[in-house]
Amino acid sequence: MCGIVGAIAKRNVVPILIEGLKRLEYRGYDSAGVAVVDGKDNGKLQRVRSTGRVAELEKLSQAEHVSGELGIAHTRWATHGVPSEKNAHPHISGGISVVHNGIIENHDELRARLRSQGYVFLSDTDTEVIAHLVHSFYKGGATLFDAVRRTTAELIGAYAIAVVSENDRTHLVVARHGAPLLLGLGEGENFAASDASALIQVTQKIVYLEDGDCAEVKLDRVTIVNAKGDVVERPVHISQLSASAVELGNYTHYMQKEIFEQPMAVANTLEMVTSAQSVSPQLFGAEAGRIFSDIDSVLILACGTSYNAGMVARYWLEGVAGIPCSVEIASEYRYRESVPHPRTLVITVSQSGETADTLAALQYAKSLGLLYSLSICNVPESALVRASDLRFLTRAGPEIGVASTKAFTTQLAALILLTMVLAKLRGRLTTERETELLHQMRHLPTALANVLHVEPQIKMWAEKFATRHHALFLGRGIHWPIAMEGALKLKEISYIHAEAYAAGELKHGPLALVDKHMPVVAIAPKDALLEKLKSNLQEVRARGGELHVLADQDTKLTDAEGLHVIRMPDHAGILSPILHTIPLQLLAYHAALERGNYVDKPRNLAKSVTVE
Ligand code: M6R
Repeated sequence: MCGIVGAIAKRNVVPILIEGLKRLEYRGYDSAGVAVVDGKDNGKLQRVRSTGRVAELEKLSQAEHVSGELGIAHTRWATHGVPSEKNAHPHISGGISVVHNGIIENHDELRARLRSQGYVFLSDTDTEVIAHLVHSFYKGGATLFDAVRRTTAELIGAYAIAVVSENDRTHLVVARHGAPLLLGLGEGENFAASDASALIQVTQKIVYLEDGDCAEVKLDRVTIVNAKGDVVERPVHISQLSASAVELGNYTHYMQKEIFEQPMAVANTLEMVTSAQSVSPQLFGAEAGRIFSDIDSVLILACGTSYNAGMVARYWLEGVAGIPCSVEIASEYRYRESVPHPRTLVITVSQSGETADTLAALQYAKSLGLLYSLSICNVPESALVRASDLRFLTRAGPEIGVASTKAFTTQLAALILLTMVLAKLRGRLTTERETELLHQMRHLPTALANVLHVEPQIKMWAEKFATRHHALFLGRGIHWPIAMEGALKLKEISYIHAEAYAAGELKHGPLALVDKHMPVVAIAPKDALLEKLKSNLQEVRARGGELHVLADQDTKLTDAEGLHVIRMPDHAGILSPILHTIPLQLLAYHAALERGNYVDKPRNLAKSVTVE
């Protein structure tokens, strides 16, 4: 989704801005631009914009000799107005230049007012009203900082903005409300960005801005003013991101790298229990013991893949810990009238921790009086983590591919740990069972590494899938959400229409779709529902459907006409959903490759969905 980088230095900042944009490319975008206050030409604004990749923007800025010591840059993911050069940021109004992430909801009325004052709009974006509004205050005599503050006071919606003026080369001004923004502190130079990864190459010292903050960023200092207008200090964090963690290394795609990193990502996530004899609430924060003892139900809020992780967890939390659990799509929950129950633990699950719908759903839950919150998240210091009472950081490392892979399996690892902790507190986990589960968890990275060996067989399936228009994914019980995740992965990157069903539902409708052109994937672990599932698979075979089954060793399912079986190397008991995810990720990856798709950046999608 949209990305912001800003810089002030005693050197040309264009390479810093471009490098920052490159590091934000993974978030998804459809145009990019940069504006700097020209170092040589009496401080005039120079701007280049492109609907191509950032590399193209880089070539354009070199060709046009764009350089300066103060500047802002942006990657845009279109919301208001098609992807085009005129809609790309930065937008300019009389020497003021602005980049913006988020959506301004009252842009129509502001546009009408600004038009009546003589402003001419050159783009279809909501952002251009910000540029004109800042300019209107600035030309009336306000400082740039005050002009930005007066502007933000009029904006309704979510925004992170960075603003420069060609008449004031000493600073840039940034502000945020509802969209992430941070400052990077350097030696005699300072920066701003929407994501710490954009600044890896220049600084590790990061200051996260709070909602309502507005900051003046100068060469030698930053000054932050909060929503009330008071000057405030915000803590300086040392970013743990390393440049190598976001490099491709020997892999061809980030998704491929991230699929193969899963044994390590899960091992890192479970590191704190690998040598432990038991689990304890402290894994989730200092207050977790008290909070977990006071709750009597759980509500999981999430989107996309993270929602699927929540759906798996419901089976664990109710089946193992015996605690009532509901799982809701965040974008639905936030607008639904629900019956609040104060002793519910609200769990948000998110890779990025910045997903706008999940954040809003958490705020909504709090506004209803739900007392306790826990965030399971891959990004320390993200908005969700900061907004929650308790946290568990999955340690997957940066996930760059838009299709979520290692974030999902590490979320599941975190959720099984939570299940164990709650089960123990509720007297439902014997010491023997705890020891057995900890043993299974220690074996999980090895089991994951073993499953990755099914890749050549999956590749053969993928060649066939790539020629089809539709696919059906079936699972039962806890593997139904894994079928959902398999279908989401396939449609997201291969653009093959895929649906997931609880296999028992097949005969209630979707069976009508099945014929010889419809490949059907079934997840068939050796569990209590296996015989039921086998009956469902017979229903598919009887209609000529081509079955592709991921089966455990002792399921007695073997290859036959119209039945293709891949044997899973390990059976992992209740951890089985984690293992069955891997072949489905590989299937989507190879089907997308076969179709010649750009797997890391599927069309129309963004990595971090920071708008509603
Ligand atoms: O960062 P989050 O986990 O909150 O993101 C939620 C979804 O946008 C995300 O999982 C999305 O569905 C993935 N692209 C799926 O692969």
